[in-house]
Amino acid sequence: MTELSGRRVMVTGGAGFLGSYVCDKLEGAGADVIVPRKSDVDLTEQQAVRTLLDRTHPEIVVHLAAEVGGIGANRANPGRYFYANAIMGINVIEESRRAGVGKLVQVGTVCAYPKYTPVPFKEEHLWDGYPEETNAPYGVAKKSLLVMLQAYRAQYGFNGIYLLPVNLYGPRDNFDLETSHVIPALVRKFTAARDSGSPTVEVWGTGSASREFLYVEDAARAVVLATEGYDGADPVNVGAGHEVTIRRLVETIATITGYKGEVSWDSTKPDGQPRRMLDTSRAREYFGFEAAVGLEEGLRKTISWWQEHGVP
Ligand SMILES: NC(=O)c1ccc[n+]([C@@H]2O[C@H](COP(=O)([O-])OP(=O)(O)OC[C@H]3O[C@@H](n4cnc5c(N)ncnc54)[C@H](OP(=O)(O)O)[C@@H]3O)[C@@H](O)[C@H]2O)c1
Repeated sequence: MTELSGRRVMVTGGAGFLGSYVCDKLEGAGADVIVPRKSDVDLTEQQAVRTLLDRTHPEIVVHLAAEVGGIGANRANPGRYFYANAIMGINVIEESRRAGVGKLVQVGTVCAYPKYTPVPFKEEHLWDGYPEETNAPYGVAKKSLLVMLQAYRAQYGFNGIYLLPVNLYGPRDNFDLETSHVIPALVRKFTAARDSGSPTVEVWGTGSASREFLYVEDAARAVVLATEGYDGADPVNVGAGHEVTIRRLVETIATITGYKGEVSWDSTKPDGQPRRMLDTSRAREYFGFEAAVGLEEGLRKTISWWQEHGVP
């Protein structure tokens, strides 16, 4: 068990969506939290990472910094997403080892799984095929960091753990339609359509794909539980334990926002991976994590946050 009270914990990406919740929880547990900002330290630069660690001496590093986005952003930036996510991880892991950091928590992604993984996805199927094409550069870049951590554990005894969260959502998510994931994009479109009285909302794909969504506070709680209580080499899924079709998700968001018009499905746009749902038994067994917030409750909180804080 890693005691967090009084420990110096660096959270890269700590000002981001997931990171802000992780920092709240770490601070709640009494940790001394350090958040490097991209404007001060570009983690794609190895020397900058070395200087940062030499200056701050964290005991634990939680590496969340990443360049992320939905299907559109992944398709527009495959090279950048591969490079930025691989190099940031490589720099942070190597420089943490060099600086004598005691533990590193790497957050990967469900996008690392093969396109046709049997549902629910089990960690042992991670290497059974190539990921869905639209997010493969991002997924493979992050998955390579699992190999790096396992190799560093074997060669240097470096304690790096690896978590695989599903798609996250919640208040303070990225609602920029150019780069957002599916839930904030839908919430924004449906609230705008309701307010303008628009008769139709266009949605990408056929609606038949299924996804699993985890409320961001649950995900942050999982990261902190693993930081405290898990020190193994095995990757661990972090999910909600239930899947929903995109069609059902759209209907639920339309109902909660009070949108009364039609939904038009643009089947020329990709659905992405056909089904996604994680087997979450390892997280329960290894560090006692179970999601607490159901999808409808989480969507209500997200929609009311957007109604209060969104662009008028
Ligand atoms: N959101 C999801 O659905 C989801 C699902 C599975 C896994 N994840 C993983 O969870 C982690 C956090 O995702 P998120 O959605 O919270 O992302 P986010 O809100 O975009 O936050 C990412 C953070 O990374 C930092 N960053 C990006 N490039 C950087 C660079 N070159 N140097 C230093 N910092 C840099 C940014 O820092 P500044 O704020 O200082 O610019 C930003 O705060 C990522 O590792 C992601 O792969 C997310």
